[in-house]
Amino acid sequence: MMDPVRNPFAPGAGQRPPELAGREKELAAFEVVLERIARGRPERSLVLTGLRGVGKTVLLGELRSMAVRRGWGAGKIEARPDADLRRPLSAALHRAVRDLAVRHRAPERVESVLGTLKAFALKSNPENAKLRDRWQPGIDVPATTGRADSGDIEIDLVELFTDVAELAQDVGTGVAVLIDEMQDIGADDISALCAACHELSQSGAPLVVVGAGLPHLPALLSASKSYSERLFRYVRIDRLDREDADQAVLVPVDREQAAITPAALDALFDRSGGYPYFIQAFAKAAWDAAPTDPITVEDVAMAAPEAEEELAVGFFGSRYERATPAEREYLRAMAELTEGKDDPAGTSDVAVFLGRKPSSLSPARDSLIKKGLVYSAERGRIAFTVPHFGRYLRGMEE
Ligand SMILES: Nc1ncnc2c1ncn2[C@@H]1O[C@H](COP(=O)(O)OP(=O)(O)OP(=O)(O)O)[C@@H](O)[C@H]1O
Ligand SMILES: [Mg+2]
Repeated sequence: MMDPVRNPFAPGAGQRPPELAGREKELAAFEVVLERIARGRPERSLVLTGLRGVGKTVLLGELRSMAVRRGWGAGKIEARPDADLRRPLSAALHRAVRDLAVRHRAPERVESVLGTLKAFALKSNPENAKLRDRWQPGIDVPATTGRADSGDIEIDLVELFTDVAELAQDVGTGVAVLIDEMQDIGADDISALCAACHELSQSGAPLVVVGAGLPHLPALLSASKSYSERLFRYVRIDRLDREDADQAVLVPVDREQAAITPAALDALFDRSGGYPYFIQAFAKAAWDAAPTDPITVEDVAMAAPEAEEELAVGFFGSRYERATPAEREYLRAMAELTEGKDDPAGTSDVAVFLGRKPSSLSPARDSLIKKGLVYSAERGRIAFTVPHFGRYLRGMEE
């Protein structure tokens, strides 16, 4: 039997894969960004976009590691709808400053930046006043006054970014701020963030904001600031092609001194369509189902129902559950109109299908967008952010 303890595969949101396949181009592009920014050269930062489960979060994590390996300060946040940016951002920058402090020779400079960071954080104002009084950023220096504490997020971001970037400049590196689920940042914060990035890039300060989010993120950014295309290079993260998908399975299997037959690889690709999350799920189940080494096509077939069951709960179901009855109706209509394929549907076709006025469906649609389940693919067209969601919805028992 294949030892389940040694099963290398890792299905799950943000789970580091045993082999990060097919992302060489993105990693190389980020090397160039780091090198150029550290030398004070102008360079667009990266924004990764793609569907659920294609590997944005793990790639963002890898970019973070790259920055840290080069002695950069780095911090990562996951944006949430309806939450202001100050607190998570100050936590991420705190982390970055601590990375830099290790190499910095002037502790009083570090402390002064931490004081500014604390002042910035304390300006966050949650609706709940009780929470505001109790909450303290975990920074143990006194907050300073007069910098990054005006209350205007744009002014404060520029000042804070500038000070943190200077700290990095002292040690000859830079600062990377990585923002996952970037489409969830509120309108004011996103516009301030773009403005701050713009200002810093013009002064040649070594700080980059690297983003990741759903496919409509570029549209959100350019609606916010027309110059955002000059700040960010949008990189679409997609399913893996056949060769890379095979590598994602072969390399980890080989590392465990096990094997898999070519027919089993065919079957795995058939099932996964090259989507990284599905690759991990089906490969993991196939390994566990294999009575002997190598893993065969029969093992893949045997394991598939179990893998699908797990996907139905963990990948599809957890998202479907977030939708209200009206939203579910909308999702099902999309699934029928696209016949379970991953193509976009016309919003007016959805209305016709449901026998409703288009305007009456806007609340459901907007709420589904906010929940990250669908996105507006282009004018008048709506698509699932979750690959194979339509197929899943059509296969569900009532
Ligand atoms: N390049 C890759 N090669 C192999 N497996 C990968 C790769 N990238 C991601 N994975 C696997 O795919 C799964 C999903 O990855 P991740 O959570 O990063 O996706 P995501 O795009 O952030 O999804 P979401 O939009 O839901 O947050 C994980 O199990 C991860 O191990
Ligand atoms: Mg993610």
